[in-house]
Order: sequence, then C-alpha cells, then structure tokens
Amino acid sequence: MSDLLHVDGGTPLHGEITVRGAKNFVSKAMVASLLGETTSVLRNVPQIRDVAVVTGLLELHGVRVTADAAGGTLELDPSAVEQAHVADIDAHAGSSRIPILFCGPLLHRLGEAFIPDLGGCRIGDRPINYHLDILRQFGAVVEKRADGLALRAPRRLQGAKISLPYPSVGATEQLLLTAVRAEGITELSGAAIEPEIMDLINVLQKMGAIISVDTDRVIRIEGVERLTGFTHTALSDRIEAASWASAALATCGDVFVRGATQPEMIAFLNTFRKVGGGFDITDDGIRFFHPGGDLKPIVLETDVHPGFMTDWQQPLVVALTQAKGLSIVHETVYENRFGFTKALRGMGATIQVHKECLGGRPCRFGQRNFYHSAVISGPTPLHAAEVEVPDLRGGFSYLIAALAAQGRSAVRGIGIIDRGYEHFTDKLSALGARFERA
Ligand code: EPU
Repeated sequence: MSDLLHVDGGTPLHGEITVRGAKNFVSKAMVASLLGETTSVLRNVPQIRDVAVVTGLLELHGVRVTADAAGGTLELDPSAVEQAHVADIDAHAGSSRIPILFCGPLLHRLGEAFIPDLGGCRIGDRPINYHLDILRQFGAVVEKRADGLALRAPRRLQGAKISLPYPSVGATEQLLLTAVRAEGITELSGAAIEPEIMDLINVLQKMGAIISVDTDRVIRIEGVERLTGFTHTALSDRIEAASWASAALATCGDVFVRGATQPEMIAFLNTFRKVGGGFDITDDGIRFFHPGGDLKPIVLETDVHPGFMTDWQQPLVVALTQAKGLSIVHETVYENRFGFTKALRGMGATIQVHKECLGGRPCRFGQRNFYHSAVISGPTPLHAAEVEVPDLRGGFSYLIAALAAQGRSAVRGIGIIDRGYEHFTDKLSALGARFERA
C-alpha cells in the first residue's frame, strides 16, 4: 500500500469511531506471556503494526501465537520458548523498542537473551541505561556487541532494592517483568505509575505474581518460582482517544470516541476544557466537540502520570494554533519532541521553540541545548503543504493539520502512523474526511 496520503482539508470531522486496547500496554502484556507456563489470552487487541512486530518476535522465541485479528483476541502459548537467532531478531524488531523488555522473561526462561540495536520514534536520545542498570542489579551480566547486547544470568536472578532517577515507563516495566520471578523481594522507588503499568500489574497478578503499589511511587514485588498464563482485556488507548479529540477540535468537528475512558484521561479532559473544547462522557465512550466561538490559549506542561502525557502534546499543539492568543507548552518528558512544529510553521502556524523552561517549573532539560518549550500564537489559518511524517504522534498531528488546512496536502510516510493507530484511514472515512491514499 502507498505511503502517501492526499488530504483535502477544511471539512470538520463528524461521526463515531472506536478505539481498542492501548498500544503501550498490549505489547507489554504480550511479552508478559513469556513468563507463564500455560497459554495466555489477551482481548481488545488492536490491529496495529507494533502488535505484528511483537507477535513476530514472540514467534521467533518459540511462542505460538493464534490471532482472531478482527475480534481482537490473541492466544499466546509459551510452552516451547527457545532462544532465537540474532539475525532474525534484528530483522523482526524493525523500529520497535519492545525487544528490550524481552530481557527479564528470557533470562528467567533460558538464562540468556540477545537484544538488537533498538528503534522507536525519533523524539530524543531514548537511552536504555536505566534498563541495563536494573538488569545488572538483578544479577544479569550484560555484554555489548557490535550488533546489540548479549545478556546472561549465571544463576537465578535476585530481587534488589532499586531506585529510578526518573519515573521511566519502560524501566518500570522492565523491573516488573524481571522481579516477578526473581528470588526474594524487589523494591522500586521512583516508579512510573501510568495506567498502562497498572494494567500490566493486573496481568502479572492474574499470573500469580505478588505486587503492591505503595504511595510515593514505590512498588514492591515478592518473587515467585512459577507463573501461569492470564486472561485479560486490555485497557483502552488513551493516546489514540486524545488524538481524535484534538482532531475534532482543530477541524471544528464533533467525534464520538467509542471505548474512550474518563479515569485514564482526567488530565487531558481538564486541558481540553480549558482550551474551550466540549466533551460528554458516557459509559460507552466520550464525545469530543468544538462548541463554537474562540478557542482559548493555555499554559501547559507535559509530565509523567498523573500529569498531562507527552504523547497528547503533539496532536493538541495543532488545535492550539487555532486558539486566540499565546499558548506555552513545556515538554518535560522528551528533550526533542517539538521537531514536528517546523512543518506546521510551513503550513502557516506561528510557533517558536525555546531552550528555556517556559511556563512551568525548571525541568531536567533546562540550561541545556534542547528546544523543549514552544510558544504558539493563534489563531492562524493553516494552508495545505507537502509534509513527511517524522514519528508516530507527530505524524498524526500532520494529519490533523492537513484536515484543518485549506487545500490539498500531501502527507508522506504514513506507514509510521499504522504502528499505533488502528485502521486510521477507515476511521477518517467514517468521520467524513476527504482524502486519497495514492
Ligand atoms: N530514559 C532514560 N534512560 C532509560 C529509559 C528512559 O534516560 O533507560 C528517559 C527517556 O530518554 C525519556 C524519559 O526517560 O526522556 C521517559 O522515557 P520512558 O522510559 O518513560 O519512555 P518509554 O518507556 O521508552 C513509553 C511509551 C512512549 C511514551 C513514554 C512516556 C511505549 C512502547 N512507549 O516509552 O510512547 O511516550 O512511555 O509515557 O510504551 C508513543 O506511543 O508514541 C510513545 C513514544
């Protein structure tokens, strides 16, 4: 299928779409299945490329994956787990960062693991130092090779007392997936507590793990010798839901996002309301709409949960180009997540990026060379342009901008969007968008 989308903008999005399980949970729950001795069943799984990548990686390691793709159910049978060939892992991993999370489970199952050089969105350096420190503290031996990392567990991994310098989502997941079968007690302070992590804890508890989440970001795990499979329905994708909400706002539209849930989106909903967006929460989903009148500028800081997610930032910035006045957005999770604003400027937006920590508390990127604050001045009419998708969320933001702009835009590289947005062109059609996949 072509990687180019022609979008005829200027039509408000109207209608209903459905979001299914969260990309950033489903992939981790799939990895957790490696830890069990029996088959796991995961429901509400979206048909996105990241799920296909993790399926491929699990299959390479001997897990039998049976998919009822349309129904969104995966069965994962780990009874024949084995070490995969290095070249195969490399070929399958593609742009994903998930392979790093295979370490703990593989060390428990096989005593060794190999991790190729990692991909992922180009939104910052994205180091894995926390992951490696954690694995070493459990007793793993890490050897750097030209093509990746070779890890060994000379004996059963041992629980440890670990503290994270920053509440990293991936590092917290690394720790959970390793500690549940390590010998003894593990205590993590400075843990990330994103809803996707809480759902991973739900899964691990179903498998037989003993995990408590204390106040002040402390997670305590009592290691057990064996785990079983799980049956679980994935929590909904709050990043996708917020992306469609921002698309509704930027195009002056009205979109019911079936499957969107309030508890995981409280910070987003507060901000959406402050900008002047309307929403109605029901048991089945959330309706997001532009109520008419001017949108209002805001001062916003991204943060770890329970703050405003970094992944909500890029789509919302497009809507902020339509707010009347100056908005300030301070990105504190990734040092380089405003690269996408350059193309928005080319479409008529007025956005300046700054190295200073604007509009909030100083963050760890202040006094360094990172353009991590943005000042958006609006409203500015957007006009069509030719743009190239830079990363997953930035790519969806370009789609929103093209939908809001007057004229025909060309959005190249839309394959990246398939990584995390299930059937997004079908959903665009359902909402009345005018576009053509060239
Ligand atoms: N960090 C380090 N060292 C590490 C790990 C992280 O310095 O070893 C830093 C990162 O560079 C970053 C910060 O810690 O500045 C936070 O990174 P985190 O580890 O929390 O992110 P992640 O686990 O790599 C996941 C999601 C991201 C999402 C972040 C934050 C997945 C597969 N990815 O990444 O999702 O932005 O948490 O919520 O779960 C996306 O979906 O588009 C996406 C990028």
